[in-house]
Amino acid sequence: MESPGVALMLWALACLSGPSTGFPNGKVTEHFPKHTVEVNVTEFKPGDRVKVSLSGPVFEGFFLQARNAENLEGPAIGSFALADRKRSQVLTCGRVKNSAVSHTSKSKKSHLDAYWIAPRDAPKRIQFLVTVVEKFRVFWVKIPGPTISQPNIPTLATPVVTEVTVGTSLPVSHLTQPFSASDCGSNKFCVRNPSDCDPGARDCFFLSFKRDHVDLIVVEMSGPSDGYIAFALSHDQWMGGGDDAYLCISDSHHVDIKTASLTGRAYPEFDSEPALDEMSWRLADGLIQCSFRRRIHFPALQGRFNLDANYYIFMADGEVRGMIHKHYRQPLITDGKFNVTGPAKDIGGSRSPLLIKIHGALMFVAWMTTVSIGVIVARFFKPVWPNSLLFGEEIWFQVHRALMVMTVLLTGASFILPFLYRGGWSDQAGFHPYLGCTVMALAIFQPIMAGFRPPPQAPRREIFNWLHWSTGTTARILAVVVIFLGMDLPALNLPDPWDTYTMMGFVAWHVGTDVLLEIHGYCLIHKEEADILAHERDSFTLSKYLFALSLSAVPPPCSFHNCCESPRYIFEWRNVT
Ligand code: HEM
Ligand SMILES: *[C@@H]1O[C@H](CO)[C@@H](O)[C@H](O)[C@H]1NC(C)=O
Ligand SMILES: *[C@@H]1O[C@H](CO)[C@@H](O)[C@H](O)[C@H]1NC(C)=O
Repeated sequence: MESPGVALMLWALACLSGPSTGFPNGKVTEHFPKHTVEVNVTEFKPGDRVKVSLSGPVFEGFFLQARNAENLEGPAIGSFALADRKRSQVLTCGRVKNSAVSHTSKSKKSHLDAYWIAPRDAPKRIQFLVTVVEKFRVFWVKIPGPTISQPNIPTLATPVVTEVTVGTSLPVSHLTQPFSASDCGSNKFCVRNPSDCDPGARDCFFLSFKRDHVDLIVVEMSGPSDGYIAFALSHDQWMGGGDDAYLCISDSHHVDIKTASLTGRAYPEFDSEPALDEMSWRLADGLIQCSFRRRIHFPALQGRFNLDANYYIFMADGEVRGMIHKHYRQPLITDGKFNVTGPAKDIGGSRSPLLIKIHGALMFVAWMTTVSIGVIVARFFKPVWPNSLLFGEEIWFQVHRALMVMTVLLTGASFILPFLYRGGWSDQAGFHPYLGCTVMALAIFQPIMAGFRPPPQAPRREIFNWLHWSTGTTARILAVVVIFLGMDLPALNLPDPWDTYTMMGFVAWHVGTDVLLEIHGYCLIHKEEADILAHERDSFTLSKYLFALSLSAVPPPCSFHNCCESPRYIFEWRNVT
């Protein structure tokens, strides 16, 4: 029997906390619970025995108690006597003996009776609360049951409160089955991610809006999470700035449906009373489902938006640890503004904002393409057109400068995009932004330094060559690291691990090209050497040869501006010797 564990948990849950708050004017809809609690009286006197019946679809466990209707957070009231000793047992909640009834085993049942005995000091009105375990992991916690009162107490203005079935005065209830996506696009406005999301399936997010009456919209949302799922309506693509948010928060086998105005990037501030109706929910197999109804129009000051306008729609999920935590990952955003009360649509969304995509793409182009070609041109192509000039400068230099300026411009332009998107510094992006800023700084420093370079023959030119080479190389290496870090950021939602493999391929290709060109340069020298040896029979020792080679193969001090082409080096060396 599993009940010790579950019963204990239910006991803790049910004994220690009050019911969920909600609205007393909900109406019964198809979502409402099939489990009902009925009593055979509407009034009681101290000492009375009241028959309480729980019935509904087959369930395995339950936990029934009575509480002061005026103070549902308070202790359990009265005691119970059993009607079915085989399938039920009395428990002690707080200090009151026998103040609750629960199951004895998880055998399937659909009906159970018990007697509640009104205590001497009973409050004026009491309400029955029941928690039902339909099956493992499907709970309905503290379904509010009927309220009964002592005779001389005036009942509330609305006679409804004395109704004995759950449906009529039900504030929050449960759903019995997953939502349906079948009328998405025809009858419902749906946002699905992925776009073929079947709301019953795991690992997909579903949000729908359906007009109920002239001024009412039924909202359904589901998604996998053990924390919360939420959506928000926004005038822009940035969360915050007063966005209208709706959160379904799973709180130990219970879902709270809340509204909030997202003012900043901090935690949401919940509205004390969500202006929602017919709130219902279900927790099953790691999926949170919730549904509610709200009016299309709201007075502006309440923080809710009117639904008949165009909004970006965000969907987020995250964890709850006492407080709402930031989303696990980038929220989903629709790729445009939509009118959820307008023509029914079935749309998807993206977890990767366009600005961030452009940021990644431009940075990639800059640091994997333009900068690499620029370096190769400077290092290996100088001897190709030694004498041809373009606008008064050597061609290789013009090409190198143009490519490097382009790299810096691309970097600068795409550098601001994440800041634009985030509206500030993003503290969720690890080292990427820090290293990224370093790369940006080096990329700005490099052309400035080049602008102040000493003339080719000046002695300080060597220092410039060193600095230019090392700054450039550091920036390139850092940029590759930054790219690897950036690719895995949630804002891009790239397919792991293939993005990393692809990038590794690119890096290997670049390094390979460089090595090949280097070997090619080596061979050129070698050939030149052979010619020299043949013509002059010079006593060309291996060590001198290696020295010459190392000068051309290792960039500094032979940095890529004036000395890297092999032939000239050999001639210079010959002249010296
Ligand atoms: C080497 C060039 C790059 C530099 C200098 C750079 C720089 C930056 C900086 C400074 C930020 C922080 C902005 C902020 O905190 O709001 C940032 C954010 C970001 N970068 Fe890069 N980046 C580079 C390359 C890339 C690449 C190639 C990718 C993707 C493949 C990428 C993906 C991202 C993402 C996703 C963010 C947003 C992080 C977030 O706020 O969630 N970056 N980048
Ligand atoms: C309700 O049920 C209890 C227990 O069976 C019984 O004692 C009581 O008389 C019943 N009350 C009414 C009004 O039927
Ligand atoms: C949204 O749709 C509703 C219903 O069709 C319409 O009354 C309203 O004017 C639309 N709003 C906008 C901003 O288009």
